[in-house]
Amino acid sequence: MNVFFVGSGPGDIELLTVKANSLIKKADILIYPGSLINKEILKLAKKDTLLIDSAILNLKEIIEIVINGVKDKKIVVRLASGEPSIYGAILEQMLELDKNDIPYEIVPGISSIFAAAAKLKIELTAPEVSQTIILTRAEGRTKKPAGEEIEKISSIKGTHCYFLSIDKIKTILDVYISNGWDINTPVAVAYNVTNKGEQIIRGSFKNIASEVEKRNIKNKALIIIGEVLKRRLQYYSKLYDPTFTHGYRP
Ligand SMILES: C[S@@+](CC[C@H](N)C(=O)[O-])C[C@H]1O[C@@H](n2cnc3c(N)ncnc32)[C@H](O)[C@@H]1O
Repeated sequence: MNVFFVGSGPGDIELLTVKANSLIKKADILIYPGSLINKEILKLAKKDTLLIDSAILNLKEIIEIVINGVKDKKIVVRLASGEPSIYGAILEQMLELDKNDIPYEIVPGISSIFAAAAKLKIELTAPEVSQTIILTRAEGRTKKPAGEEIEKISSIKGTHCYFLSIDKIKTILDVYISNGWDINTPVAVAYNVTNKGEQIIRGSFKNIASEVEKRNIKNKALIIIGEVLKRRLQYYSKLYDPTFTHGYRP
């Protein structure tokens, strides 16, 4: 196997998986999304590794680099920020490689949403509070399929996480309010998590959008909405309840 799509985590080098770390060190060609990854990660590469920022390339150019690399028997590592399967635009790259009969492997990474949960010290699926996580985005130039409108999504309870949408925070939250969510529902924004300049902002529908505006946050941030942010439990989980028996603790 010579081609790898590798999740590079939220930024902190120590949050790279062991496999990601070793593939970055082995790569002859390392293609990375310049606008999203911590450049310190690139320093793990060999001195003679060809480093290519995909931010300035189109799909055809990226695929050509991969195909030529494979022809030259090079190890090609295509980094994606966080976890590749979440807004990583890897499907189109995989389909192009399939067309060219080029095999590849995908190495998962830690998504920024899990790094944000860790920083907020929350459980995204706290028992009896929320057992559902919605990962979504506001519509941008990439259109959303019918049925996934914020109006529809906000009719479901649970923990809602918005990627790629910080510039639309006010519009998003207004939809939730008009859909009946309590104005005091906690909302958090996690900016540049695990990187220099990280900001974790806690608030509610009432004040978070103005806080984001005040801090001039325009990209690389997640919006998390839901009661789990309160870090309160009415009941503890059944899993560690001494009266609850299961296969491993009769
Ligand atoms: C193209 S998507 C990639 C998501 C990535 N695959 C992941 O799993 O985190 C980029 C969006 O992810 C979020 N994001 C990525 N890295 C982040 C970080 N370090 N801190 C906060 N949000 C981040 C932001 O919402 C950003 O607009």
